[in-house]
Amino acid sequence: MGGARTARGQTVKSAKQQQLERSWESNAHAWTEAVRGGAIASRRLGTDAAIIDSILTRDPRRVLDVGCGEGWLARALATRDIDVTGIDASAPLIERARAEAGGTFHVCSFSALPGATMLGKYDVVVCNFALLDEDIVPVLQALRSLIQARGALIVQTVHPWTARGDGEYRDGWRTETFAGFGDGFSEPMPWFFRTLSSWTSALDDGGYRVEELREPLHPETGEPLSLLLIASPHN
Ligand SMILES: C[S@@+](CC[C@H](N)C(=O)[O-])C[C@H]1O[C@@H](n2cnc3c(N)ncnc32)[C@H](O)[C@@H]1O
Repeated sequence: MGGARTARGQTVKSAKQQQLERSWESNAHAWTEAVRGGAIASRRLGTDAAIIDSILTRDPRRVLDVGCGEGWLARALATRDIDVTGIDASAPLIERARAEAGGTFHVCSFSALPGATMLGKYDVVVCNFALLDEDIVPVLQALRSLIQARGALIVQTVHPWTARGDGEYRDGWRTETFAGFGDGFSEPMPWFFRTLSSWTSALDDGGYRVEELREPLHPETGEPLSLLLIASPHN
């Protein structure tokens, strides 16, 4: 998924995809420490609360956390009696998630989602800063089949107007070095910057209608901390 297909239908991951997944293996320990130690200011200032609020608004019983990392969101939802399944390609991050209570966790690359019918159906499927690849439409299409009738997909991502930095406002690959997130990040992560219209087009192409956008703001500067896209599958 994302990446070329061979004549036998196997997916060949691009160099960027391979580097992206490798970075989450190498940085698993440092990332876990950063998340659990509250080292990421934007999370403390509003993005954690924003994703939790947008999920709770749907009053879900079952949530699928796609690209769950070390599992903080599952743990936060479990305290509200929500049944959470988390999936992530990074085996060391899933190991850290399983070591805490809060959900059922599987090592699963997004490329394996089309065959993952055993995952079942969910009231909310959430991607919290986890759609980092260029070709996300096949992932969105695969997730559609895991959403219950009247369920929702909730995506939180970096806000395109602040995350662009000094770069052009145009889709393209960027590099995250994790500077300021603490020590121990050994591999930079390639990630695909997309504009607001690129996000809404990808959701449309994936079979969704965007119902709502949310933009949590920095409490002091008033700048957007992130962008949330709340979408429902097309009938
Ligand atoms: C920025 S972290 C966010 C983790 C978690 N959602 C959170 O809020 O802390 C991105 C996560 O997406 C996962 N990820 C990225 N690409 C993936 C892929 N192709 N398949 C499965 N997981 C992927 C990474 O392993 C990593 O855990």
